[in-house]
Amino acid sequence: METRRRRPLPWLNPGILVGAMAPAVTILMRARSGALGANPIAEALNELGLIALVLLIASLACTPLKTLTGWTWPMRARRLIGLLAFTYAALHLTVYAGLDQGLDLRAVLADVVKRRFIFVGFAAFVMMIPLALTSTGASVRRMGYVKWKQLHLLVYPAALCAVIHFVWRVKKDLREPLVYATILGALLLVRVIAARRRSRPAAATSGPNA
Ligand code: HEM
Repeated sequence: METRRRRPLPWLNPGILVGAMAPAVTILMRARSGALGANPIAEALNELGLIALVLLIASLACTPLKTLTGWTWPMRARRLIGLLAFTYAALHLTVYAGLDQGLDLRAVLADVVKRRFIFVGFAAFVMMIPLALTSTGASVRRMGYVKWKQLHLLVYPAALCAVIHFVWRVKKDLREPLVYATILGALLLVRVIAARRRSRPAAATSGPNA
């Protein structure tokens, strides 16, 4: 009798894809029915930006989650979550450039230069582009794992810029952006501690008595 190898959690990535795209669909439906409030463009812009940030941080949480729990499924979801973060950031930028600025690219560039919170948001987006473009297995093979991994460290400055973008945008009540800053700091800490633990035995064996 043929035994079929079961792919563990086959619904994982389809579930994440459907769940993550649902807010975009509801934003579109609310926009069409006039249910986005008094300032629909600003509402859509802020919602899309917030979801982009949540997904970016969720993609960063995958490796620490595996480190802390030993679960392997977060690693299988990481690429998709990162791509979804990029999709939302691109939608956020599209609403800003297309609807808020009426596709006036000069006005967009002037804003990038003039307003520091737009500048860091732009920097975050620019850093996310090579990550999205090299997210495939073929890119890992073409670049070699070490170089690919080095490039993908860009996700940290990208997330940091996105958090600063949020902090600078908010101005007064900093509680919400600081929650994201704290989560990002905690995720970074787990990675730094794990990296140190990994390098310690190597350092011990490469010592003078090794
Ligand atoms: C070229 C890139 C970007 C531009 C031009 C841009 C622009 C903006 C603008 C105009 C706002 C609304 C400000 C207001 O209503 O006062 C905003 C808010 C926001 N953006 Fe961006 N953004 C960019 C990239 C990003 C990226 C890459 C992320 C996250 C990954 C992000 C996350 C956010 C968040 C979290 C908010 C605030 C949401 C809230 O208040 O609930 N943005 N952005």
